[in-house]
Amino acid sequence: MRTMILGFATLAILAASPAFAQDAALIEKGVQVYADQRCRLCHSIGDEGNSKGPLDDVGARLSVEEITAWIEDSKGMTESTGAARKPAMKQFDLPDDEVGAVVAYLSSLKGS
Ligand code: HEC
Repeated sequence: MRTMILGFATLAILAASPAFAQDAALIEKGVQVYADQRCRLCHSIGDEGNSKGPLDDVGARLSVEEITAWIEDSKGMTESTGAARKPAMKQFDLPDDEVGAVVAYLSSLKGS
């Protein structure tokens, strides 16, 4: 819950600045993609979702390229990182703009 409030506060601050308004819109779309694709079945953000795969600070741990690779080539990333959690991340075949949005959202998560 606290993460959500912080998230909204951050969005409100970002939205108030024209330079960041576009980023805020992209992140908002990413929140939607994350929900639509039901990433929460295997991942959690704040108190929401599967706590075996927390993504609260994924933006601080992984680069934009790495996060993108997880979404576009989850099989390859599962192999190259040796991730052992089952079920393994399924392959997603999302349009580029949706990948960009969800990556922008996850990259904005730096923990608290
Ligand atoms: C069927 C379960 C499943 C689903 C659904 C799923 N993932 Fe994953 N994901 C995993 C597993 C397993 C890993 C390997 C790391 C781990 O054990 O958490 C992973 C890793 C990741 C990582 C790297 C995390 C890290 O801590 O290094 C990201 C980012 C990620 N997933 C994003 C997503 C997004 C975005 C979606 C929705 C579009 C999604 N995942 C849907 C199972 C899933």
